[in-house]
Amino acid sequence: MPAAKVRKAVFPAAGLGTRFLPATKAQPKEMLPVVDKPIIQYGVEEAMHSGIQNIIIVTGRGKSAIEDHFDVSFELEHLLESRGKKDLLGIVRQVSDMIDVSYIRQKEALGLGHAVLRAQELVGPEPFAVVLADDVIEAETPCIRQLLDIYEFFGAPVLAVMEVPPESISSYGCIDAEPVSHNGSKNKVFRIRDLVEKPKQSEAPSNLAIIGRYILTPDIFESIGKVEPGAGGEIQLTDALRHLLRSRPIYAFKFEGTRYDAGDKLGFLKATVEFALQRHDLGAPFREYLKNLVL
Ligand code: UTP
Repeated sequence: MPAAKVRKAVFPAAGLGTRFLPATKAQPKEMLPVVDKPIIQYGVEEAMHSGIQNIIIVTGRGKSAIEDHFDVSFELEHLLESRGKKDLLGIVRQVSDMIDVSYIRQKEALGLGHAVLRAQELVGPEPFAVVLADDVIEAETPCIRQLLDIYEFFGAPVLAVMEVPPESISSYGCIDAEPVSHNGSKNKVFRIRDLVEKPKQSEAPSNLAIIGRYILTPDIFESIGKVEPGAGGEIQLTDALRHLLRSRPIYAFKFEGTRYDAGDKLGFLKATVEFALQRHDLGAPFREYLKNLVL
């Protein structure tokens, strides 16, 4: 039987964004722009280009800017239209025209697992993607699309992973896994044996870190409901996946592409420079500017 189609993507965006204070005191980190686009829009476009149009955003207090961003702005559109600014009008309309967005609140930031559980009713009994917008991923084939291909083959949940330096693993969820050969490649797909959230470097089972893209099946909700608060006192998605692993196989995929942690200041700066350099309108003068910097 073919795996059920993934039609929905959940964007947990209710975290406090403490690593980006004071910028995130009154605005969500998901609205910080990389060049000229809020970071959440990169994730939404990735979902869209992977064939997913139903976007579910889990928001918290002070996150209304996200709702406004994906809404129609009549005043702005009217103004652009009356001034004949067709290009800008297209840019403003492009995304809200192509997706269907729903919102659900997470009243308190009790953890990523808890945020995903808040989306249960909107997701319903079907598989879904989870996208952490602060992981901005540049890839020829969108990262979610890469995961969907693996999901469709195995009919099981799939997590995106990447190798990180051993001293950084304690900032991530980490997997213990055995490689599975798939489509001729031997070290890209893994069957997960165990997972642990933010392990000490000395206790980490590997240097394969879980990053912010997942394809999940609806049985994850029951598992989230069963786990106790873990690392940082939060309900962790990694712990729920560990619970789910008792009853079904879960896979990991070393995706192709570059991931920027835009929720972290240095990662954000790197993403900004790289994306600006690739822009047709900015790349050349920005490169010239960088070349003349005395470093
Ligand atoms: P982070 O680990 O980046 O946490 O969450 P954070 O609170 O957003 O940021 P810092 O670490 O304090 O700077 C990973 C993702 O999970 C969401 C966040 O919005 C982010 O997309 N999240 C986290 C929630 O939606 N709710 C939570 O309770 C926790």
